[in-house]
Amino acid sequence: MRDAAPQTIYLKDYTPFGYLIDSVSLTFKLHPTETRVLSRIAFRPNPDATDKTFFLHGEELKLISAKIDGAEVSPVLTDEGLTVDVPSAPFIWEAEVEISPSTNTALEGLYMSNGMYCTQCEAEGFRKITYYPDRPDVMATFDVRVEGTEKVMLSNGNPGATGDGFAEWTDPWKKPAYLFALVAGDLINHPGSFTTRSGKDVELNIYVRPGDEDKCAFGMQALKDSMKWDEDVYGREYDLDIFNIVAVDDFNMGAMENKGLNIFNSSCVLASQATSTDADFERIEAIIAHEYFHNWTGNRITCRDWFQLCLKEGLTVFRDAQFTADMRSEPVKRIDDVIALRARQFQEDQGPLSHPVRPEEFQEINNFYTATVYEKGAEVIGMLKSLVGHDAYYKALDLYFERHDGDAATIEDWIKVFEDSTGRDLAQFKRWYSQSGTPKVSVSEAWDADAGTFTLHFSQSTAPTPGQDVKDPRVIPIALGLLNPNGDETHPTQIFEMTEAEQSMTFTGLGARPVPSILRGFSAPVMLEQDIDNSRRAFLLAHDTDAFNRWEAGRELARDTLLKMILEDAAPDAAYLEGLKRVVTDTSLDAAYRALMLNQPSETELAGVIAEMGHTPDPVKIHTAAKALSKAKAESLADALPALYADNQPNGDYAPDAGGSGQRALANAAMSLMGKLGDVGKARAQYASADNMTQQIAALATLVREGEGDAEVQAFYDQWQEDRLVINKWFGLQISLAKPEETAAVTERLTQHPDFDMKNPNRFRGTLGALAANHAGFHHESGAGYKLLADWLIKLDPLNPQTTARMCTSFQTWKRYDDKRQALIKSQLERILAVPNLSRDTHEMISRILG
Ligand code: TRP
Ligand code: ZN
Repeated sequence: MRDAAPQTIYLKDYTPFGYLIDSVSLTFKLHPTETRVLSRIAFRPNPDATDKTFFLHGEELKLISAKIDGAEVSPVLTDEGLTVDVPSAPFIWEAEVEISPSTNTALEGLYMSNGMYCTQCEAEGFRKITYYPDRPDVMATFDVRVEGTEKVMLSNGNPGATGDGFAEWTDPWKKPAYLFALVAGDLINHPGSFTTRSGKDVELNIYVRPGDEDKCAFGMQALKDSMKWDEDVYGREYDLDIFNIVAVDDFNMGAMENKGLNIFNSSCVLASQATSTDADFERIEAIIAHEYFHNWTGNRITCRDWFQLCLKEGLTVFRDAQFTADMRSEPVKRIDDVIALRARQFQEDQGPLSHPVRPEEFQEINNFYTATVYEKGAEVIGMLKSLVGHDAYYKALDLYFERHDGDAATIEDWIKVFEDSTGRDLAQFKRWYSQSGTPKVSVSEAWDADAGTFTLHFSQSTAPTPGQDVKDPRVIPIALGLLNPNGDETHPTQIFEMTEAEQSMTFTGLGARPVPSILRGFSAPVMLEQDIDNSRRAFLLAHDTDAFNRWEAGRELARDTLLKMILEDAAPDAAYLEGLKRVVTDTSLDAAYRALMLNQPSETELAGVIAEMGHTPDPVKIHTAAKALSKAKAESLADALPALYADNQPNGDYAPDAGGSGQRALANAAMSLMGKLGDVGKARAQYASADNMTQQIAALATLVREGEGDAEVQAFYDQWQEDRLVINKWFGLQISLAKPEETAAVTERLTQHPDFDMKNPNRFRGTLGALAANHAGFHHESGAGYKLLADWLIKLDPLNPQTTARMCTSFQTWKRYDDKRQALIKSQLERILAVPNLSRDTHEMISRILG
């Protein structure tokens, strides 16, 4: 619970802990309400630290006994930990505490999920397990003994002795407490093995609840692919005899990279044809890779303090994106990532929660596992890679691993590695880590026909963000190429390094005015403003050799026509519809890519763009325009839809690979457009015959969207009511497709459903998160959506602060909207803030959102 005055922690205040740890031994005597944790820790004074206060974090612990060098001591206890006098020479700390996993609904520390014990310690959960210096720069080797009656009892590292009622584990690698993990339960393992390139055999397991055994094979393959990829691309081998993954139903986030014992939200590891969509398969593959890659970028090299979170997260997201691009389609992965970046990170940067990739202050670190730290953090690494080049990047990474293995490192260390290995001065580049906000880059063109020269003039600026009024120019790598008027590429992609507020680049010796293709591959996370018309965009849509920019041209046409429909009541743009038709029916293009071309900016994204233009977004108009454009696309493509549908039914057995997924995406998009024309026959037939979740749920969505799906909604529930992950989809689908005026009521009704369980974050997010994601429904002028979400956040906060605080971000865009909506939201935010004993997590989020 929150202190009277919430405390702010600052990066500038960092000091090392006064003591080092030589070893940690833990014994767990498991019991649902009275688990005993015995710790024996060898401390010695840290010669590099001046402050010798011996403070151990500890929260919600019942201290049974504490000893120093075998003698009982009486520490001073507070809600946050203990302090005690200690010798100025090495000493042994021993403590016994009692905790109650079965009543731990925060899902942090040791808790129970469906009768199984599990832990979540990042960022600061270990302090709910025992007294400890719970900070990432305190690293130690751990020996663990688990005593209990469970069939399976796991911890980090390599297995040791086991016997009746106990199991021992030893982790030879030093680690911070946030990487500690313990799992115990009646689990079943799906086994596998991997031989590293130096010939070491590693035992692999995915542990699941009985009944889920048939959903492990895909994850196991993804794990092996990840292990191989990290050897091939980064030269990184696995370093223990065993690697375990456990699936847990009740989990606050996606997954956790605990050393040798990754714990996953079951939705991020369990996969089967019947229950998972193609998108689920791809996400699962990426998350398994992400957590595995943390073994080097996060575990072997960890963070000095939590301000450095992007050191491990940005780099690991960048690595998992490289992996997915290699496993599947590089342009499709890039486009997907940019769509997500704009939807989540740009939105964060445009509002009251904007913060640097490396924040400099926080109250609750759990509130900083954000799109900025993760996704923009990965973009920063992508920029660094394009600036130094492929070979120099991998050379720098080799140096990073060599120099910092075993360290708790900082962004300064990371930058220094690149400076030392490339000889570049990266002082200005480092602004990407300290300045918040999304830069705007404007481009204008000048053509001198007589001289045959073409000049691109760039300017950059970043609007002020909370706490940062003045922004300095950043280093922006702008990938660009030139096409001639016939559409042939005359100048292949090169990187223009922008460093000034204003800068030009000139091409000489040209026979005709070229067409530039700028910010290819989305080479920097900026908003590009180009003074070009739709015929130029249509030209790039037809001819650009850069797959990303070709998609981008179509995307901008779609955005433009939507904006004109919303702001000027214009009709859908004919040139856009024509261009779209050409691309979508071009069978020389990848099906996945054509499917991406067919989708349009989300209503939330449009609201953001309209706000950036200085207008007030009207959710009703946006919704009406989005629907009208879908209808217009359907009409314009009417003749082509039956073939698009029929020709993209993958042959043979279902496989969740790039090819099959792309075809299903395109066929499903065609099916959905047919629905817009009043033809739901294909959808009804597909629903009845589908042998996979991708096709089943896409058919259901089309039926529901057209108001023709009542029977199928019931049938879907009847078929899947025993499968928690599928039922999450069932809750979410009904809410995301509800009509604006019915969204709050549909959500409310579903929260009364016997299967609604607020304690399960997946179910809570699947329901209330879907409400917030239904833009027109959430922002319905009645304010019913705002109130319903606030009601549930208030109910959840005492049980699970982390998930509550994370979902408060649904309100972060409130200042975009009209006075009436602002007033409605503000009163809900103030109502939440006034709740007595609000958690520190939620208190910080709501205060920041209110501004
Ligand atoms: N480090 C994890 C990852 O990115 C994420 C994480 C942080 C997390 N805190 C968590 C996961 C709490 C679950 C619960 O891979
Ligand atoms: Zn991560």
